[in-house]
Amino acid sequence: MPTLASMATPEEGPVPFEDALVVIGTNLLSSSQHREEEHADLVATLPSALEANGVKKLRLYQGFWLRDIHVPAVIALQRRFQPRHDDVIVASFPKCGTTWLNALTFATMARRAYPPAGADHPLRRLNPHQCLPFLEGLFQGGREAELEALPSPRLMNTHMPLPMVVPSAVPGCRVVYVCREPKDMAVSAWHFLRRLQPDLAFSVVFESVCDGRMAFGPVWDHVLGYWRASTAMPDKVLFLRYEELLRDPADKVRKLARFLGMPFSAAEEDAGTVDSIVRLCSFDHLKGLDANKIGHLDPLLPVPRDALFRNGASGDWVNHMTAEMASRLDRIVADKMRGTGLNFR
Ligand code: A3P
Repeated sequence: MPTLASMATPEEGPVPFEDALVVIGTNLLSSSQHREEEHADLVATLPSALEANGVKKLRLYQGFWLRDIHVPAVIALQRRFQPRHDDVIVASFPKCGTTWLNALTFATMARRAYPPAGADHPLRRLNPHQCLPFLEGLFQGGREAELEALPSPRLMNTHMPLPMVVPSAVPGCRVVYVCREPKDMAVSAWHFLRRLQPDLAFSVVFESVCDGRMAFGPVWDHVLGYWRASTAMPDKVLFLRYEELLRDPADKVRKLARFLGMPFSAAEEDAGTVDSIVRLCSFDHLKGLDANKIGHLDPLLPVPRDALFRNGASGDWVNHMTAEMASRLDRIVADKMRGTGLNFR
């Protein structure tokens, strides 16, 4: 039986979370009920709305719409999460490239233990989300001990807005963020939410995007929190765009590795390691793997894994929005971004 200490050294990078759980053990379903009941009085007083597909209730907490089950998780996270200096957090608004960035960051950080061209690479048998603990999921389930038990360096994932994960002014860890053109995010969100409610109209999701009333939204406040942190602390927060990843993934993988303090050596460049990581994590490759075709995302979220790999391109909004809808959302976003140095033109 391996021990956690034997599973990784700092030079070897993060342990695939699913593998670590075999050693740590998990109490996934037993404790989630408990955490939902915590702070029930507070949650009941918060403004509420239904998520666009009508499945989950949202609550407005600290300026963001969260699924109600995530409010106690955030409270626990803000009180108890202790970042380590060598932690790396992959952050994003949903449907903006989380799965891809999870895969790229894991493959980059773990490349010494798991060469990306290797037949036994964890990303060939695990969904990318299984390689990283999902912070709000763990805190929602009262599973923070699993996080504590992980050897360093830890690689984690979140959709939470920056101040909810890293309340201090200077993050004690590194954060990699990916944003996406909001119209494409809206289209991707619609396709995803439809998996739970097939007759969901696109216009319903579109309105919720325009109102900012989406889980973890408003999207502009989410993006701007990370954007501002990345300009103030470029060595702590790396801000990436989905469209730039599509345009030149190898360039962005090199940038990611430099940010993580583990640039590719000349020998790695000669061996084609960057291209191997890009290929391993490419849409076509991941989409074709059983780990990404079979099963569900999470026992608590009955969405098939293949919902994470739909189209993998930019500009699909033209197939879903009228010109009026597009310019309305563009105007809303441009207004919110004015003077920030960030835009989506
Ligand atoms: P589409 O619905 O536009 O196809 P998230 O991972 O944050 O849920 O984002 C999902 C979006 O990222 C989906 O967009 C999905 O197809 C796309 N995606 C997933 N894996 C990808 C990859 N390896 N390369 C490019 N896009 C990817």
